[in-house]
Amino acid sequence: MKRKNSMVVVGMLGVAMSLAACGDDSDSGSGSSGESTSSEAAGKVGVILPDTESSVRWESADRPALEAAFEEAGVEYAIDNAEGDAERMTQIADSMIGDGVTVLAIVNLDSKSGAAIQEKAASQGVATIDYDRLTLGGSAEYYVSFDNTVVGELQGQGLADCLGEKDANIVYLNGSPTDNNATLFAEGAHSVLDGIDSYTIVGEQAVPEWDNEEAVTIFQQLYTGADGKVDGVLAANDGLGGAVISVLEGNGQAGEVPVTGQDATVEGLQNVLAGTQCMTVYKSAKLEADALAKTAIALARGEEAETTGMTMDSESGREVPSILLEPEAITQENVQVVIDDEGQSAADVCAGEFAKFCEEAGVS
Ligand code: BGC
Repeated sequence: MKRKNSMVVVGMLGVAMSLAACGDDSDSGSGSSGESTSSEAAGKVGVILPDTESSVRWESADRPALEAAFEEAGVEYAIDNAEGDAERMTQIADSMIGDGVTVLAIVNLDSKSGAAIQEKAASQGVATIDYDRLTLGGSAEYYVSFDNTVVGELQGQGLADCLGEKDANIVYLNGSPTDNNATLFAEGAHSVLDGIDSYTIVGEQAVPEWDNEEAVTIFQQLYTGADGKVDGVLAANDGLGGAVISVLEGNGQAGEVPVTGQDATVEGLQNVLAGTQCMTVYKSAKLEADALAKTAIALARGEEAETTGMTMDSESGREVPSILLEPEAITQENVQVVIDDEGQSAADVCAGEFAKFCEEAGVS
């Protein structure tokens, strides 16, 4: 069996036996011997993660959760990361298809390259799934994600809760314009905050590729443009929130200006505990990875996957069968939720200077 070094092949166990029908019950990692054919090869799933920079979640949370989900299901899988390069994602997809994946899940870097990957996969009989980000104009059989409009609503409500009803100047630092989720986050946040008359938007900009460093420069400019009169910042994820906090720190305002986030990263939770970030949004990687594994297995078996509803592709008008999970807002009051759910460990979050904040908030 040919294997790329980035690939992990696990043995056929439990449920996968019926998928692979290979008669090889070894869990030694060698999988089925030889190349099985047609429906027998059903069980191999490829997942391509987008990058390592836009959020730490992809490598620190999604990859291990996906590995655990596929291993538990006894499904052969390969996970790779496109490192922010759409061409590289295309090459990885080609090589995974060449290696016999029958289901390919991608977190697209932009809809155009994602749709092209899906079209090519379909032409070779490979089913596709949009993992986390919907590919506009794409052809994925399923979309597995969280309800991203709700993520934005939680961020908007979280910021409003931190600000109260006072007059407040608000800046939006949105995610990448190439990420459909970023559009949904911003829409969700606006749907809450636009209804509060005492708030004024004094700046709003998207951050290309969610680039955390560029976010510093962009927010610095928005901050200067508003004469430093910024009372609250809707930052689309923890990385962008961290960028905002660093600028506020430089201006002696960290902790005074509420900033939102998303992903419940170690840094995000630490900022929440330290009071420099008002909230984050927890989206369990385990739930999302499990949903992906379940959906991929159903597809591989030619069965219908369980869905929560349809999502309309705003470009093509296509209704995409979807599994959308519920995100959860995290503030100082409920950081423990993430720890209890093993979304992060107390050891990581409460390390060093953050130990005292954990103690104050009763987090352990
Ligand atoms: C994901 C977020 C993530 C962002 C940057 C979005 O599509 O839903 O969880 O922070 O991309 O990677």
